[in-house]
Amino acid sequence: MFSQTLLKWHRHYGRHDLPWQGTCDPYPIWVSEIMLQQTQVTTVIPYYRRFMQRFPTLTALATATQDEIMDCWTGLGYYARARNLHRAARRVVDERNGCFPEQFDDVLDLPGIGRSTAGAILAFAFGQRHAILDGNVKRVLARCFAVAGYPGDTAVARQLWALSERCTPKQDVASYTQAIMDLGAMVCRLKHPDCGVCPLTRHCQASMTQRVALYPGRRPKKRRPRHSIVFIMIRDRAGRVLLERRPPHGIWGGLWSFPECPADVSLASWSKERFGTVVQFAAPWPQVRHGFTHFELDITPQPASAPRRLPVRMRGNGVLWYKPGAPFNGGLAGPVTALLQQMEADQ
Ligand code: ADE
Repeated sequence: MFSQTLLKWHRHYGRHDLPWQGTCDPYPIWVSEIMLQQTQVTTVIPYYRRFMQRFPTLTALATATQDEIMDCWTGLGYYARARNLHRAARRVVDERNGCFPEQFDDVLDLPGIGRSTAGAILAFAFGQRHAILDGNVKRVLARCFAVAGYPGDTAVARQLWALSERCTPKQDVASYTQAIMDLGAMVCRLKHPDCGVCPLTRHCQASMTQRVALYPGRRPKKRRPRHSIVFIMIRDRAGRVLLERRPPHGIWGGLWSFPECPADVSLASWSKERFGTVVQFAAPWPQVRHGFTHFELDITPQPASAPRRLPVRMRGNGVLWYKPGAPFNGGLAGPVTALLQQMEADQ
């Protein structure tokens, strides 16, 4: 039922004139499937045409140099795909006389070919029945059968593979494979799915419950470790604030920032150690969170007043007194700029 509905839709609305269609030669089909692994059809088409002109046969590809292949691939990205294509072509020439394998396990054994790509090549070239599960198919199946969770999780992927196996018909496998890919790319899009024209809406559990946007589940966000520090915003009687230059390496390397007190150290002992005296602290400002690639930093801005004479020990990188609002020659750490603006408004 599922496959028949898709096949019928595909006859009317599917893509039938893509440059790698209309052939049973596994070589061009393989090249197209590799290019399409991480790239959209419209981007792939001109690259595919150029590639096939330059390397019209598997043997031509195997005997080309890496540079020639890379030259043709430049701009398409994910260059490991091109290197694997080359390695695989050489192996097929060396081990099989240039004849692309027809057994699933032999295809899967070639570099750069995973389970879904192997299935697609064999379905398109030889009409063999294999399930596929590329990004488009995952989305169609996850929505249609309301499969919750992120498809990158093994358990979710296993469910989706089982569904893909179940839905793949015994006949017309090549058309069905193209049909489900096309539906995913053209109708069941990640953003703005066009459920109004989808042939599966009446089978689709996500659509029927108006929860299409919930499927497939997003990749769980990795919790980045969190660190806490205190920015000591110490001002003198002229309203100037103390800045210090950070060490050349590490976060905000070489930029100017406020003196920094670890969150687990008492302000009094830090200030004694740093200034040789306990300065006067006011109420802290609300915490600011700053995201780095690998961690998050919670910053507590801590205003303080300097006594008339404040011995500031140099830290090797430089210190200065700066009047908020005045021109500043130098780089400022991101959150420092915003805090200095607030200090200027505050004075
Ligand atoms: N994505 C992966 N394989 C495809 C194909 N054969 N046609 C369209 N999009 C695809």
